[in-house]
Amino acid sequence: MPVSLQESWSIGGVEVPTRIVLAPMAGVSIQAFRRQGRRFGAGLVCSEMVSAAGIEHRNERTFGYLRVSADEHPLAIQIFGSDPREMAEAARMVEAAGADIVDMNFGCPVRKVTKTGAGAHLMEDPALACRVVRAVAGAVAVPVTVKMRRGVENGSRTCLELGPRLVAAGAAALTLHPRSAQQMYTGEADHVLTAELVSLVEVPVIASGDVTSREKALSVLEETGAAAVMVARGAQGNPWTLREIVEGESFRPTREEVAAELVVFIREAVRELGEQRAVGFLKKFYGWYFGHGRFPKPFKQELVQLRTTDEVVTRLFAAAPGAAPLVEALEAELPAAEDETVLDRLPISVFGGG
Ligand SMILES: Cc1cc2nc3c(=O)[nH]c(=O)nc-3n(C[C@H](O)[C@H](O)[C@H](O)COP(=O)(O)O)c2cc1C
Repeated sequence: MPVSLQESWSIGGVEVPTRIVLAPMAGVSIQAFRRQGRRFGAGLVCSEMVSAAGIEHRNERTFGYLRVSADEHPLAIQIFGSDPREMAEAARMVEAAGADIVDMNFGCPVRKVTKTGAGAHLMEDPALACRVVRAVAGAVAVPVTVKMRRGVENGSRTCLELGPRLVAAGAAALTLHPRSAQQMYTGEADHVLTAELVSLVEVPVIASGDVTSREKALSVLEETGAAAVMVARGAQGNPWTLREIVEGESFRPTREEVAAELVVFIREAVRELGEQRAVGFLKKFYGWYFGHGRFPKPFKQELVQLRTTDEVVTRLFAAAPGAAPLVEALEAELPAAEDETVLDRLPISVFGGG
């Protein structure tokens, strides 16, 4: 029977309304990105990886990653670290911030992370990986999940040995990005491994890697038996891909629609990160939004040189005057700022103080 992408499924009792998960992406998956993803049909969205040590040390910037608003749910917040006690403490705080699911990163291939024993390094130390999962699962009432790669070395099949052990330790779902850590993002994701993992565990498996179209989403679901597919790079500056995957119709946004989405995204990013950080953060998004022949190439060059986001917004409205009423309509739908949980506004007890 063909799979329906609009069918709901669940992770440890948390209902996920569609079979599309918006991926965690460091430097990308801020709240504005997640909210947009939910609006365009992702059934579950995920924060970028948040350092458990950063949470423990009350790092102000780390707390900034833990903003949760009313229109994001269901939301997974992803944490990384390698110390079971620290990860359990971080999980408690993430739960208090409003996460519906605590996800753990066992896949990050970046040396800065692996050299601390975290990310993909945990795949090389299954006993520690299981202790981390057990500690986190025991610390919170919400379901806990793990996102991993196939293993560290090229051709590795470690995920197939580790996956069932992580489930036994308490993971309520697994996401597999079947590339090795060594591969980084080169080559192709080998979803034959995803199918093998699905056959080995009783919990839902989310397939991550190279899903950029409805056709690919359907074939990965069919061939692997995964509960859902995850979309990462395909959604960068392109939320319409999510809608196309979920609904099956081709959405070619007009220039006004592209400009309107970007203006809302810019304003939300500024609210979240502050003007100074947002200016640098947003630059990569201009290229992403303006690709696909939507705007002429020199337009991007022009925008990345502007010094303030106000100037960028003014320039966007000048290029697409019809975007203004669309922006107004989109902003009218955003929940009030009071409906947002920010960790530093939580009572001191959740910080483990006292
Ligand atoms: C810029 C970028 C940042 C990423 N950051 C994270 C992260 O914080 N945590 C994580 O588990 N995976 C991260 N990933 C991996 C993605 O979630 C995903 O597994 C991978 O990109 C494969 O999916 P794709 O082919 O749809 O891009 C990142 C990927 C990219 C491109």
